[in-house]
Amino acid sequence: MLGEILRRLIATYLILSASSQLNSTKPESPEEDPFSITLKEEGKLKDLLLKKGILFGGAVQSSYLKNDPLYRKIVSEEFSMITPEYEWKMSQIVPEKGRYSFATADEILAFAEEHNLKIRGHTLIWGGDLPKWFEEGKWSYEEAKNLMEEYITTVMGRYRGKVPYWDVVNEAFDLPFRWDKNPWYKALGEEYVPLAFHIARKTDPQAKLFYNEFLAEGMNSRSDRLYEKIKKWLSEGVPIDGIGFECHFQFGIPHREELFQNLRRFSDLGLTIHLTEVELPIPFSVTRGRRIKQAIVYRRLIDACLNTPRCEAIVTWGVLDRYSWTQKRGWFSEPLLWDEEGKRKLPYYVFYDAVFRSQTFSENTPYP
Ligand code: XIL
Repeated sequence: MLGEILRRLIATYLILSASSQLNSTKPESPEEDPFSITLKEEGKLKDLLLKKGILFGGAVQSSYLKNDPLYRKIVSEEFSMITPEYEWKMSQIVPEKGRYSFATADEILAFAEEHNLKIRGHTLIWGGDLPKWFEEGKWSYEEAKNLMEEYITTVMGRYRGKVPYWDVVNEAFDLPFRWDKNPWYKALGEEYVPLAFHIARKTDPQAKLFYNEFLAEGMNSRSDRLYEKIKKWLSEGVPIDGIGFECHFQFGIPHREELFQNLRRFSDLGLTIHLTEVELPIPFSVTRGRRIKQAIVYRRLIDACLNTPRCEAIVTWGVLDRYSWTQKRGWFSEPLLWDEEGKRKLPYYVFYDAVFRSQTFSENTPYP
């Protein structure tokens, strides 16, 4: 039954993606419309992914969890992992020097525990979302080092044993114009990266420690530099267990082969791969053709994870389109997997189809 539904989904999807380039007339019947397909509940995407050893996550915020029952339902039922989008950042945790505040951070952890979701800690050391007192202060090498030690041991220590994955350092390869704004870099130089990992390993030896980066998904000079740096740090004994590729694809979409090749080279270093902040917003006005193209690129992403050894998580940067940070800023639209009414969108089914077929058919299985 499920096989039949998927076959029809694949066929209609292919036909419509081809024909939408040529004309935009509405399909004749609802069955031919990939936007109206609902799968019979024979396992959710998260269950299929788990069988492949891949966690399926979403970035969440505590206020939406508290105030929106639909959001809460989707998060608790559809994911196997969550990432705090905002509340585990330094600006929220140490709003004033010396005053730590864990109220909302704890709420997210409690939600994860209540619903049996893993949690991906985001993020310890970053040049963004910093409290003013830290961002605007002048820090000597020793002061910054002590602060880093205090911050990591306090935050990671509080959640020791409860957070299996941590983004220890986020976006150190920031775009050049932001380097001078990163107080960690200003005070400690590049050494701030290895230092953070050493402190993190000591604080929670069980946790997998990640370096998380954006605009490094494809093969380009930025990912080349990152690759060389990570290789060097690993050879020096820096305890990096995994790489997070953010996948904010509003700024460009990597070529399919290059995406595969790049993930593979990092994985060949023995690192765990997570796709950590996946979103694919539609620029300009939303049309059926653009939605289909969006789904095709989502397909590329899930295929890349399925084809990469040790690719063990895919996390979307939000849940419902209406709360997406990109959509809220008005830059782009509809980046995620659930629409305004909480209905699964085409990319959800495309993910589902890719994972389902990857364990059921061989590469050469012809389409019906
Ligand atoms: C964004 C959040 O989505 C916003 O809510 C917040 O105000 C700013 O940060 N790279 C990251 C994330 O690593 O932490 C950022 O998240 C998006 C870019």
